[in-house]
Amino acid sequence: MTAKPLNAMPVLSPRVSAIQPSPASVLRRRARELRGAGRDIIEMSSGNLDFATPDHVIAAAHDAALRGDTRYTDVDGTPELKQAVRAALQRDHGLDYATDEIVITNGSTQALFNALLATLAPGDEVIVPAPYWAPYLDQVRLVGGEPVVVPCPQNNGFKLRPEDLEAAITAKTRWLVINNPVNPSGAVYRRDELAEIAAVLQRYPDVWIMADGLYEQIVFEGDRAPTLAAIEPRLKPRTLTVSGLAKAYAMMGWRIGYAAGPAALIREMIKIQSQTTSCASSISQAAAIAALDGPQDLLRERIAILRGKRDRFVALVNDCPGLSCAAPEGTFYLLVSCAGVIGKRAPDGTEIGSDRDFAAYLLQNADLAVFPGEDSGVSPAIRVSFANPSALIEESGRRLKRACEALR
Ligand SMILES: Cc1ncc(COP(=O)(O)O)c(C=O)c1O
Repeated sequence: MTAKPLNAMPVLSPRVSAIQPSPASVLRRRARELRGAGRDIIEMSSGNLDFATPDHVIAAAHDAALRGDTRYTDVDGTPELKQAVRAALQRDHGLDYATDEIVITNGSTQALFNALLATLAPGDEVIVPAPYWAPYLDQVRLVGGEPVVVPCPQNNGFKLRPEDLEAAITAKTRWLVINNPVNPSGAVYRRDELAEIAAVLQRYPDVWIMADGLYEQIVFEGDRAPTLAAIEPRLKPRTLTVSGLAKAYAMMGWRIGYAAGPAALIREMIKIQSQTTSCASSISQAAAIAALDGPQDLLRERIAILRGKRDRFVALVNDCPGLSCAAPEGTFYLLVSCAGVIGKRAPDGTEIGSDRDFAAYLLQNADLAVFPGEDSGVSPAIRVSFANPSALIEESGRRLKRACEALR
């Protein structure tokens, strides 16, 4: 009998074998490793904002911990936070949800996943407009569904056209995922554009809508991005309105998200949560109440700062040979076309054959971590964040230009 080797691989479930670690997490780890090895990596790939969580929010968490709010909460969230979410949905979108139509989750990532897990049977289809946030696809695959990617051309501002949506709907379509504003393009659907999409959806009563508004407050014109259930109330009974506190309140690591939708679906999502994570962090929930109920003017100040950074970075990027981008209407990402560098060669002779090659070249030769568009269903492009300190934005612009100029 031979001894079992150490570190033997477990037998993996086919579902897990079919997916990859999220590209953002892989890049974050690689950047950290390189930094640990002494390299001065600038992370332009990250979904983190360089703002601090507001002081009054941190104070509320501190108070909660001292008060003894350190136990499991109700699976679906504390009644106080659910009330704060309810009030925020009413205040921000005019949307009325009852308490049993809301669930608090560990980031909006968990809300999206639980909804898919609660509803998809093998082979069910989920329409995902591209460019997209990469995890939508693997979340769908993980629960046995099939993502159906619908390319959204740049000449339509990277937004889903009603005719393309209609052409993608089949008898197996269970969900349309609609993210507004869009990560990674920064596109913002206007009310009339959502109304046109809603008109198509009205003709397909079996298709549900996952409205992901995680960046809804980060828009550079107007107050916030609209959401589908508010645009077309007749769709509300089959819409899951998903959002969270990560981006609006710079609370990425606090892991608080929420979903609002029909009670029957929310009930199933809560059932899943009860068997998997029990509840979101009690301390983070207390902090989230302070964020949602507290003063909102900091948000406006921060968006003004981001607008300035956006404009500066757009100018720096457009000064790089082979790159071009337009100013996004929302989020803190630039989707940069790198068509002009494809086919060129690095000083060591390596050909830049794809945006993934270009991202690898920038990491290796310019100490810049950027996100390849291929991971978001749009090529050749890279996604870069402008939520970095101004000095880093200037430095990354210099490095980007030098790296592009070195290509032949
Ligand atoms: C479009 C989109 N949706 C959802 C999420 C999940 O965010 P969180 O789980 O931090 O709420 C992200 C994170 O970057 C995102 O970009």
